[in-house]
Amino acid sequence: MDFRELIKKRRSVRKFKDEKIDSEKIKEILSILDEIPTAGNLQSFFVYVVTDDELIKKVISEGFMKAYFDYAPLLFVFCAHPENASKYGDRGRNLFSIQDATIATTYVMLEVVNQGLSSVWVGAFYPDVVSRLLDIPSKYLPVSILPVGYPDEEPIKKERKSINELSKWIG
Ligand SMILES: Cc1cc2nc3c(=O)[nH]c(=O)nc-3n(C[C@H](O)[C@H](O)[C@H](O)COP(=O)(O)O)c2cc1C
Repeated sequence: MDFRELIKKRRSVRKFKDEKIDSEKIKEILSILDEIPTAGNLQSFFVYVVTDDELIKKVISEGFMKAYFDYAPLLFVFCAHPENASKYGDRGRNLFSIQDATIATTYVMLEVVNQGLSSVWVGAFYPDVVSRLLDIPSKYLPVSILPVGYPDEEPIKKERKSINELSKWIG
């Protein structure tokens, strides 16, 4: 797909069809992680791939701050790995590892669209609850979750600020 076309096609979808995603497709999506930029190439992130229906429902109902929806056939849970970036001190632990996990989320979100699927970035969740439910060790900090599935709605583009409000040319 053309890059711009892909970017425009990506919209937050919060209603998914009750249809499983082939594991080969999931592997294909994950393979994009092999290409992403990370601070010092340290790859200070980790991703949990959740396909167990009961667990997914629990994460959504107990871990999400708001009930956006009750089902998705797949969850990607992106974690920062702060100690892995500790060679950059506090900036590595508190910023670079979060940025690495965020970049990973962004690339995966776009590859999801490339594979004919949809997602929504979920930031409003309780990291401690999600960590408990998925048995995530304390060295990882969950920072973003992407519920993924075949779209069952067609979201329209929401109004944006103008580029002039969002940028300033210097020079
Ligand atoms: C960092 C971040 C956190 C977000 N958290 C949530 C969330 O917790 N729940 C939700 O429904 N959408 C969440 N979103 C999705 C945004 O609401 C959505 O991207 C925005 O309204 C623009 O709409 P679009 O994605 O359809 O272009 C989040 C997006 C980002 C980038």
